[in-house]
Amino acid sequence: MDSARDTLAQALRGIIDPGTGKDILSTGRVSGLTLSDNGTASAILLVDGLKREEAEGLEREIRAGLLKVPGVRHARIIQTSERQGPAGGAIQGVRHVVAIASGKGGVGKSTVAANLALALFRRGLSIGLLDADIHGPSAHIILGIGTRAQATAEKKLIPVKAHGLKVLGMGLMSDPDRAVAWRGPMISGAMVQMAESGLWAPLDILVVDMPPGTGDIQISLAQKLAPSGVVMVTTPQQLAVADARRAAALFRQLQVPLLGTVANMASMPGPGGLVLHPFGKVDREGLEAELGAPLLAELPLDPDVTRASDAGTPLATGPVAQTLDDVASRIARSLGLG
Ligand SMILES: Nc1ncnc2c1ncn2[C@@H]1O[C@H](COP(=O)(O)OP(=O)(O)O)[C@@H](O)[C@H]1O
Ligand SMILES: [Mg+2]
Repeated sequence: MDSARDTLAQALRGIIDPGTGKDILSTGRVSGLTLSDNGTASAILLVDGLKREEAEGLEREIRAGLLKVPGVRHARIIQTSERQGPAGGAIQGVRHVVAIASGKGGVGKSTVAANLALALFRRGLSIGLLDADIHGPSAHIILGIGTRAQATAEKKLIPVKAHGLKVLGMGLMSDPDRAVAWRGPMISGAMVQMAESGLWAPLDILVVDMPPGTGDIQISLAQKLAPSGVVMVTTPQQLAVADARRAAALFRQLQVPLLGTVANMASMPGPGGLVLHPFGKVDREGLEAELGAPLLAELPLDPDVTRASDAGTPLATGPVAQTLDDVASRIARSLGLG
């Protein structure tokens, strides 16, 4: 356990959960306590079973508690709900859905999704990966999957096992090219159906590689799969960050908590030990303010990762895997799984 989290937790001791009459930390009412370098303390508040006034009162108390901690300049409380049951349409046997999203393509969303799923698996969690990028599926390539998903007589899809992950996606279907001609509602429907008809259970987390952007398919996936959170992937380039901001705003509107941002291809080794920033240097404070979420990691551009992705042999070691191990640990903790 890190000390910042302990200090924040200490400041919230004694706040009572109106739902149970017990301490909000012991009941799991509040989780995901983090403190970013710019002094933003974040907490996730589970509002299930609370009246609106109760949730708001609790949010005020938590905010006041966090702001008393030395070094905390801002407090950000994310209200969330498990939204279980038929209305939310969450997938049976799957504890959490975590969406990996981006504003634009080519920023490394699929690379992060697959390698983050693997990092979560290395923590001993049972993990699935749904490649929901219908027009640019790539999970099957990154994970080196040569087989196709089979369906049962009841039309349930059996995910393909690869590197310990349960995987489904358009690249694993028997006729992937057909999907390219699909439009709008058909696509959204197909992706939701693929998620819901997958025999995933039991799964701690289903990682969903979302299509880039802010269209119908992102909206319907976010509504139907009720993700516990979304991780935004961007390069540090201002053009990409601007698109990421729009995507972040969409998820906020859909009430999917933003778990944080991964800045990909943030640096690369240059000649004579120089560190190069091909897409510009990461401005942590600016990025966090613009997206309204903590910067979870800066990943280097690592040619070994490009090669490993092309070869379908993902790396469990090296700077990208190591950094994603930290991100995985943070996400697992914030979901109450670590
Ligand atoms: N950190 C990284 N280091 C090296 N290559 C990367 C990294 N992230 C992504 N890539 C490469 O960049 C390209 C685009 O990445 P991809 O994950 O397919 O992006 P997206 O899913 O956002 O379109 C791929 O060739 C991928 O292998
Ligand atoms: Mg992709």
